[in-house]
Amino acid sequence: MLAENIQKLRSAKVFRFNPFDKEFHANPYPIYHRLRSEEPVHRYFVGDDWVITRYADVKAVLRSGRICSHDQPKLLQQKNQYLQDKGKNLNALAYTSRQLLFYMNPPDHTRLRGLVVKAFSLTVVERMRPRIQAIVNDLLQQVRHKGTMDIIADLATPLPVFVIGKMLGIPNEAQDQLHEWSNVLSRILDSLVTLEEYEVLNQVVEEFQKYLQALVAEREKDPQDDLISALLAAREQSDKLSKEELLTTCMLLFATGEETTVNTIGNGVLALLRHPDQMEKLTREPTIIQSAVEEILRYDSPVQMTSRVAIDNLEIGNQTIQASQKLILCLGAANRDPSQFVNPDQFNINRFQNNHLAFGDGIHYCLGAALARTQAQIAINTLLQEFPNLKLATDKLEWRNNIALRGLKTLPVTFTSK
Ligand code: HEM
Repeated sequence: MLAENIQKLRSAKVFRFNPFDKEFHANPYPIYHRLRSEEPVHRYFVGDDWVITRYADVKAVLRSGRICSHDQPKLLQQKNQYLQDKGKNLNALAYTSRQLLFYMNPPDHTRLRGLVVKAFSLTVVERMRPRIQAIVNDLLQQVRHKGTMDIIADLATPLPVFVIGKMLGIPNEAQDQLHEWSNVLSRILDSLVTLEEYEVLNQVVEEFQKYLQALVAEREKDPQDDLISALLAAREQSDKLSKEELLTTCMLLFATGEETTVNTIGNGVLALLRHPDQMEKLTREPTIIQSAVEEILRYDSPVQMTSRVAIDNLEIGNQTIQASQKLILCLGAANRDPSQFVNPDQFNINRFQNNHLAFGDGIHYCLGAALARTQAQIAINTLLQEFPNLKLATDKLEWRNNIALRGLKTLPVTFTSK
């Protein structure tokens, strides 16, 4: 008995959450379950951070007024200082990060969000349905004759680039370049990036800003039916939006809207392939696509983590969090919490009351939620209807090298098209 207790104590002591762990990266859910049941407010082994995994705690922090947004702009400023001493810099990145909506706090956040929120309303997104459907049809048409495709490269990646590009009014010929930049930019969301990677990010921000500046100048002279022109008009009417904020916001839409959507479609098709009964059900009953996409977002959340900083001391669980300590909020863990979801590890596309946190909560709730949902619904339904005999073409799946975002590098499948 004593030996058993010592063993328990030892294993409890050595257990530490390490998001770099290969095993965790391949399948984070067993680790989340352990954290949630044994240490739901876990002291991270580096820095002054806490890892939060229970649904109720994550939701409460996201909605709390005693919490401020990420400390990323401050950290980037420190890195910039360090590099400046060595004759290099991250000037563009450090400056831009202060104007990124999801790093902002009220009242600036409220002002800026108020200006862009209309462009992403359900009504606007519903009007985009035919265009999204046409892009999906076109992408599937290009691989139809092959009998094989990579869901990530052939469908999930080009779709959001075209859609966001179209919203902003970016010409088709610039899409490839923007896709390359967005891929790098999405690393802003990852808190674990090397200095060299930050330098590349800084260059991309400079190039992207230059490109957008030219486009904004064109739209100033000749407004079109696009988001840049709408933001310019909002700016003139209320003088509430600086030019830098306008450029940064357009860039942010690529950084946040692309990889997250790619991951939703990729993770969703993978979950369906691994649960043939659910795939068959959805193929037979395409009208349940809305609830299927909600389950995909919950079951294998494309954004696994976000973070916040405590403004003053607060209690979470039975732990005291000190002011200025960082909270790593595991959305992926909250979405598998058995106290919120019945049989949380079961993939059930008919799940009832699926109140997941995949899009966050509170004032930073995802601006692009309706757009992301619509793209995923159209892409997955059309794929199942057009390529009914979908099969996984590999047993070796590799996840992208990003801690906060969860998505596959490739997802090869075979099919027999109609
Ligand atoms: C399924 C795909 C998506 C997922 C899972 C997702 C997830 C999230 C999450 C979790 C947040 C909150 C972050 C936090 O509180 O720290 C967020 C914020 C945000 N998302 Fe998304 N997102 C998706 C697609 C998109 C798209 C398509 C766009 C736009 C084109 C977009 C734009 C934004 C913006 C601008 C914010 C910041 C909002 C604010 O700070 O007020 N997202 N997203």
